[in-house]
Amino acid sequence: MKFPEHFLWGAASAAYQVEGAYNTDGKGPSIWDEFSKIPGKTKHNTNGQIAVDFYHHYKEDIVLMAEMGLKAYRFSVSWSRILPNGEGEVNQEGLDFYEKVIDELQKHQIEPILTLYHWDLPEVLQTKYGGWESRHTIDAFVEYCRILFDKFGTKVKYWITFNEQNVFTSLGYRWASHPPNVSDSKRMFQANHIVNLANAKAIQLFHQVVPQGKIGPSFGYGEVYPLTSSPADVLAAVDANQFNNDWWLDVYCRGEYLERIMRLLKQMHIAPDVTIEDKKVLQTGKPDFLGINYYHGGTVKAPDTEKVITGKNFDKIDPYLMAGDAQSNTPESQLFQSVENPYLDKTNWGWEIDPIGFRIALRQVYEKYRLPLIITENGLGAFDKLEGGQVDDQYRIDYLNDHLVQVGKAISDGVPVFGFCAWSFTDLLSWINGYDKRYGFVYIDRDDYSPKSLLRIKKKSFNWYQRIIETNGGKL
Ligand code: NOJ
Repeated sequence: MKFPEHFLWGAASAAYQVEGAYNTDGKGPSIWDEFSKIPGKTKHNTNGQIAVDFYHHYKEDIVLMAEMGLKAYRFSVSWSRILPNGEGEVNQEGLDFYEKVIDELQKHQIEPILTLYHWDLPEVLQTKYGGWESRHTIDAFVEYCRILFDKFGTKVKYWITFNEQNVFTSLGYRWASHPPNVSDSKRMFQANHIVNLANAKAIQLFHQVVPQGKIGPSFGYGEVYPLTSSPADVLAAVDANQFNNDWWLDVYCRGEYLERIMRLLKQMHIAPDVTIEDKKVLQTGKPDFLGINYYHGGTVKAPDTEKVITGKNFDKIDPYLMAGDAQSNTPESQLFQSVENPYLDKTNWGWEIDPIGFRIALRQVYEKYRLPLIITENGLGAFDKLEGGQVDDQYRIDYLNDHLVQVGKAISDGVPVFGFCAWSFTDLLSWINGYDKRYGFVYIDRDDYSPKSLLRIKKKSFNWYQRIIETNGGKL
């Protein structure tokens, strides 16, 4: 395997999932702090109040990162730690915390990759203004970004605007399984449009304030396959790729919405309201690179009006493929029907495992948009067992190895991938799935019910990744 020199071998996390200290040193509440209080919304009513307490363990964790040889660490800033009310007065202690994290990383030659928004909107912006449905939130976001650009622009080179916009808008506004707990397609597409504007404006500002830096969004990409070679199924897959991927990536990279999908949304009266001024804004802020989060893609067949099932239908909410409900009157149910892929195994959480799909995805995205790519997430959620003080997570090693081999092949195919951030460095909170869905190289002694000792224990995969980094992928 040949990986480029200076390849950013990294790992990733997000503030709400690791930090804890939810009301410490002036931090204001976020929509996740509030949403997790609604009984039954999260597994065992888990929340991020303590999480894995990165807030107090960051030094220890960064020492472990250095021991592993990490070249990059992707983390997100909690907006309400910086601006407890979402806007207005800055909480200096919040800024100080991230400064210490960045300095500590740099002390160990680890490149910080800073995500501006990983889903934890300040609660006030939601309750007072309507969150991402309000244009007020665009201004607040740009103000928040300006503070971080001014403060860290000289120290941090790589910046991520929004993490998985496709996922947080669909789960939050379409499926009511994330905050703000809404189930309304029109509202989802409107909120998504507001986020697009915020993304473009933040990038535009970044290019003025931090000309030497690089910025882009992290998108949750999944390649969609046709179930058969029947032209109707192939057309369904083309539509599904447009609906699930290009609808977002085209706006980021070309500054416009796909005409075909927009027409459908208009026919269904769920299209976002896009003004002439908005169109100009979308043209102004183009990313320098694309972050790709890859977990799985999907498989579809032609929408079946008579509901004749030729493949096994998916009937659950899938964060990466919007076709959860075959019966509903949704735009995607007019275009395609999501089915299980008969060739792929699944994780403990029912996510298909598809390393080759990763290579396809990288090639597709690069050929379409011609931007450098960085893998901002890829990893395996599993039930790990601590036995005799050790965690033998060979399945995670296999998963990551197979996926990295495909990244290496995509690079050999000519795709400029400049880094890979495994999800995740330590175990962390998996949003609505609690603490037992573990992704880390480092086990954290805690469960859904209790933070226990929060002791950090290196898993078998820790040593494996260390070796991969040491050999620049030579041991894959
Ligand atoms: C993507 C999200 O960005 C991350 O926060 C999440 O935990 C992983 N997917 C795994 O579900």
